[in-house]
Amino acid sequence: MGEVRTYFAPWGEQRLAAELLERHCARCRALDLPYETTPEAMHAALAQVPRDRREAAEHAAQRAAHGLSQMFGWKPDDYSPPGATPFGPLLSSHHEHYAFWGGRGGMKSWGVADALIELASTRKERIAGAREHMVRIKESSKELLDEKARGSRWANDWQITEYELKNTRTGSVIFFVGLSGGAAGPEGVAKALEGITLLWTDEAQLVSQRSLDVILPTIHKAGSRCVWTWNPGQEPSPVDLMFRHTEPPERSLVTSLMLEDNPYIYRSRLMSECRSSFARGDTDTFRHVWRGAHLEVSDATVFPKVASGYFNFGALPCRGAGPNVHHLGGMDFGYGGPDPSAAVGLYLIMPGAFPSDVPEDECRPILYVANEGVAQAVPNHELWKLAGKTRCQGVLCDSAMPLMIDALNASGRVSARPAVKAPGSLHAGIRKLQSCDILVSPECPVALGELKGLRWVTDKTGKVVKPLRTIVEDHCVAAIRYALSEIEVSTLENGGVDYV
Ligand SMILES: Nc1ncnc2c1ncn2[C@@H]1O[C@H](COP(=O)(O)OP(=O)(O)OP(=O)(O)O)[C@@H](O)[C@H]1O
Ligand SMILES: [Mg+2]
Repeated sequence: MGEVRTYFAPWGEQRLAAELLERHCARCRALDLPYETTPEAMHAALAQVPRDRREAAEHAAQRAAHGLSQMFGWKPDDYSPPGATPFGPLLSSHHEHYAFWGGRGGMKSWGVADALIELASTRKERIAGAREHMVRIKESSKELLDEKARGSRWANDWQITEYELKNTRTGSVIFFVGLSGGAAGPEGVAKALEGITLLWTDEAQLVSQRSLDVILPTIHKAGSRCVWTWNPGQEPSPVDLMFRHTEPPERSLVTSLMLEDNPYIYRSRLMSECRSSFARGDTDTFRHVWRGAHLEVSDATVFPKVASGYFNFGALPCRGAGPNVHHLGGMDFGYGGPDPSAAVGLYLIMPGAFPSDVPEDECRPILYVANEGVAQAVPNHELWKLAGKTRCQGVLCDSAMPLMIDALNASGRVSARPAVKAPGSLHAGIRKLQSCDILVSPECPVALGELKGLRWVTDKTGKVVKPLRTIVEDHCVAAIRYALSEIEVSTLENGGVDYV
């Protein structure tokens, strides 16, 4: 039998098995006491209540203890329990990659942050804290590292400024970068990473293949290493593929961490959230969020709800004009022969455009496909006519066809530019469409048919296969994706609210 794992009790320094703590917490809930109540005080309170309440509390305690093995029962196939000090190797081993992955709350970020502060407090390091996207410093791990440095026994050695942490004794520096690079581009990122001794990439499931291709050859100083922390995303990401699906790079240490590997869970709200999520009974979501699984997609239909009809702009207080209604055009070019080109004009109507009495939770953005043009074998000098069907001045186009974009611009009738082609852009683009309620004008039968018909690739048993791919990439859907390519998915998923 393996050793029984123990957790810090909410009421003091004691460490106990999860089953005992689950019983304690269930009794506290039944008695409406805080979890910090000591077992003595809780039992005293239990003795005071009427017998039926006492029995109900005991019953709840039994159920909670039993529920634990169900809740933590499922694990990804490649999970193996970590050692007693999963972050210890960061301080003492000679790996070149340290990869920590798992479900929420596995203490990945805190564990790495603690270890990095210790490293940088005891020897000279030049550390970059990276994320795929970091426009503002608030989007980095800086706050966590600041807190860890201030709370460490080397606190007096650390000088913390708005953008970096400096250790005045060891000369270590910790600074922060966004790998996707923003205006500076990949070259700017590579330059910023020159000479570092350690790169820590948190939320590494968001790292694109392009970023990996830039950073891996950049971290080349002898003795330098990369630390990766991530939760598996919707489907295998480049970092999953690098460490979990193929032979990992040389000298990699891959560690999986689940909630139950974190001894501090009973000192936080994580267990409450995890229990509530489990109780909701949505197994796929639970496993995705809490157990490090990729999200199962059980329905091969990509857009299950697509409506046909005219959008009533008159119902909007702004009548369709204003900052919450975007008019966008997109165009996909055919490769010749029967392969058609398609142009689509659409409106993206953000929740802010609706009258304020519409309940917020009913508000998803509306994607209204208003105009389309589809034609085969269009000569380059006539492409502008097709683009005109979008009824939109600016049109975002397939970036793989710069000559056709030039031809459109040469006509002087439309302003065409290449769509933003992010890595994984097919899936990212489809996610944007899935974040919206889609309405298609009856004047766009081709777009309607494509949107309704789009399916994920399935295996022989009908199960959707990962990574997600669609059966035939259709031209109108592609044109819609291009039209939306400059809009961030988070803008759509948050209903246009910027939470940063
Ligand atoms: N050393 C520690 N001391 C006290 N509490 C801790 C410690 N490590 C982790 N925790 C608690 O566990 C919580 C989860 O840890 P952390 O945020 O590091 O997990 P994670 O694996 O990065 O989670 P996510 O998957 O959400 O990013 C922390 O918010 C904190 O409450
Ligand atoms: Mg984290």
